[in-house]
Amino acid sequence: MSVLLGIETSCDETSASVVEVTPAGARIRSLVILSQDVHAIFGGVVPEIASRAHLTAIVPVVEHALASAGVTLDDMAAIAVTNAPGLVGALLVGVSYAKGIAAARGRPLIGVHHMEGHLFATSLDHADAVPPFIALLVSGGHTLLLDVPAWGRYERLGGTRDDAAGEAFDKVGKLLGLPYPGGPHVERLAREGDPARHRFSRPMLRRDQRPGDPEYYDLSFSGLKTAVRLAVEGSTDLERDRAHIARGFQDALVDTLVAKVVRACRERGRTRVVLGGGVACNGTLVAAMRQGVDSLGGAVFAPTARLATDNAAMIAAAGAFHLARGHRDSWDLNAHASAPIPGLIPGG
Ligand code: KG4
Ligand code: ZN
Repeated sequence: MSVLLGIETSCDETSASVVEVTPAGARIRSLVILSQDVHAIFGGVVPEIASRAHLTAIVPVVEHALASAGVTLDDMAAIAVTNAPGLVGALLVGVSYAKGIAAARGRPLIGVHHMEGHLFATSLDHADAVPPFIALLVSGGHTLLLDVPAWGRYERLGGTRDDAAGEAFDKVGKLLGLPYPGGPHVERLAREGDPARHRFSRPMLRRDQRPGDPEYYDLSFSGLKTAVRLAVEGSTDLERDRAHIARGFQDALVDTLVAKVVRACRERGRTRVVLGGGVACNGTLVAAMRQGVDSLGGAVFAPTARLATDNAAMIAAAGAFHLARGHRDSWDLNAHASAPIPGLIPGG
């Protein structure tokens, strides 16, 4: 058995986690997530404020994670830290701190790609959420459809061409006068909506699309957001129409995501689907995905809320995989605003 420390500071959550790794899999010993609520005032994440808040939080967050797991830095097999993608100033806080403690205690340092972390998150909740699977990662910054034949081997099937799914939820939330981040509020409001009142067209989803055509798997949400804006502007009583518009938006987005995942399962012959990212908290999406994938005899694995959103346990779990493969990063590990997920394999 070995234990790893994970550190995540790519956006607006300062998180640290101690994860125990045995041949049977990874288990969370402690997980601390400090969310920066201050950004709600500005209606979005303000990078400079995020970096400063990480600076204040990083030491107590890491110390608390170690203390609640009953371990010290000397017990760590490695220090895993998110180094891409994300806000560079925010990432640098985690990377610099991780380097500092790893160098001081002579521990291996492992840089982890944030999206690869999201792929590992669900396996911490469900032992069966392991490759081969189709992954749908839907967060505030990313929307990615991957085929995962094995850990460390990722084939990008498609992704968004414009807004990320979470970004679309947040923008629609703003249009409907809801607090930031809008995702959970839009979902709540949509429950009261009538699906027949606003039927928006399903973006980038047509029957004539075929495998090999990039549109077969790609997604796009900016047109849907514009359709929502026009519906809001055209409403004579927004108070009355808000829930119906939220419902129409969510139905269009969910239908599209389910259709693309079902296509991927069929074409790749996969029976497992792993969801990740903040939008995987959306119960309507998870239920619709289950319905779509059940009809193929498959299973959908969705993370619990604390592992769907940004957290350091998933970073430690991905770090453990790279550690086991003998990977170590050097002291010149840097932070990158964008970077391809490692282990990308060319399309088949
Ligand atoms: O993964 P995450 O915590 O951060 C990023 O890496 O972006 O995802 C945050 C996103 C936000 O856009 C938020 O609105 C969305 O996840 N989200 C939801 C729900 N809960 C969070 N979107 C739809 N329905 C939800 N219940
Ligand atoms: Zn994320």
